[in-house]
Amino acid sequence: MSLPILPSCSVVPSDEELAALLETNRYDRELYRLADARRKEYYGTDVYLRGLIEVSNFCKNDCLYCGIRRSNRQLERYRLSDEQILQCCETGYALGYRTFVMQGGEDAAFSDDRLVPLVVQIRRRYPDCAITLSFGERSRESYQKLYDAGANRYLLRHETADAEHYAKLHPPEMSSANRKECLWNLKRIGYQVGSGFMVGSPFQTTQCLVKDIRFLQELQPAMIGIGPFIAHHQTPFVRHPNGDFILTLRIIAVLRLLFPYALIPATTALGTIDPQGREMGLRAGANVVMPNLSPLEVRTKYALYDNKICTGEEAAECRNCLTVRVESVGYQLVTDIGNVKKIKTA
Ligand code: SAM
Ligand code: FES
Repeated sequence: MSLPILPSCSVVPSDEELAALLETNRYDRELYRLADARRKEYYGTDVYLRGLIEVSNFCKNDCLYCGIRRSNRQLERYRLSDEQILQCCETGYALGYRTFVMQGGEDAAFSDDRLVPLVVQIRRRYPDCAITLSFGERSRESYQKLYDAGANRYLLRHETADAEHYAKLHPPEMSSANRKECLWNLKRIGYQVGSGFMVGSPFQTTQCLVKDIRFLQELQPAMIGIGPFIAHHQTPFVRHPNGDFILTLRIIAVLRLLFPYALIPATTALGTIDPQGREMGLRAGANVVMPNLSPLEVRTKYALYDNKICTGEEAAECRNCLTVRVESVGYQLVTDIGNVKKIKTA
């Protein structure tokens, strides 16, 4: 297999080449170097901030991997008020955030009747900011209303592009087909769409990962979020091993080479399985960080997986901590809306 295929992208790597690249760690250093060079061509050394507001841990779904699944009766549930959410935006804006990401479980309380006026208010107060939503699967009409209200981006990981694998991670009422249809609807409406998957989710094979990459190539999302699967002790997957750190880094690098324009976060999950995870993610080609803007008192309750980091720090502490971390590996956090770049800066 010849690595230069990837950086030049003049030849689309075959499934076999992709699989071989994912299964070996022989070329890591060279792979990261190439991915970093590619990201610098498009984004220089800038790292974009997204302020994450975890608005609710109620969820009607029962995804087997997720700590806030409806069957987890031990979890104390919460949902933020509009005032609390607006306060998070105010704090974030003062700290230089120009993207607010509202994320939650699929909570009926966040109906269109509640969300539309909230989005309108945030749009009115912060015309220079991006409003990103991540509320799971909704109807096309709902996505349209939220877009018309002022939301511009939507995060919805496809989780796995392989329908059989999807069925092993989710209850029967959920389907890979519906999730993909939601992503296409979001794209048709005009959202900047973010998709992605967990690395090392139970039953995942290299072939699943190849399919994930192929699906992303079809979808061409603006953002690609990947992070290791991390077991949660109150889910059926409690005994499954966590996703592999090095494999996650390798996939970040491959994604950067295949999607040079994309916004790729160094995720909290990556920072959870390794103390230097986010820094190494940036060096492998990631260019976004998503610190937490949620009120301190709810942080531990948005427990998707065990040992999640950054649950005890104020928003300003997180911002400062990340400034140091990002600079330690030669990049800098920027106060910028951080839209996707389709063309090279150089
Ligand atoms: N409800 C929205 C949705 O379905 O997209 C947003 C919330 S959902 C909890 C956000 C993401 O967390 C999921 O897309 C999934 O990939 C990730 N996640 C959930 N459980 C996880 C786990 N145990 N380890 C790593 N990531 C996990
Ligand atoms: Fe939140 Fe370090 S990034 S405390």
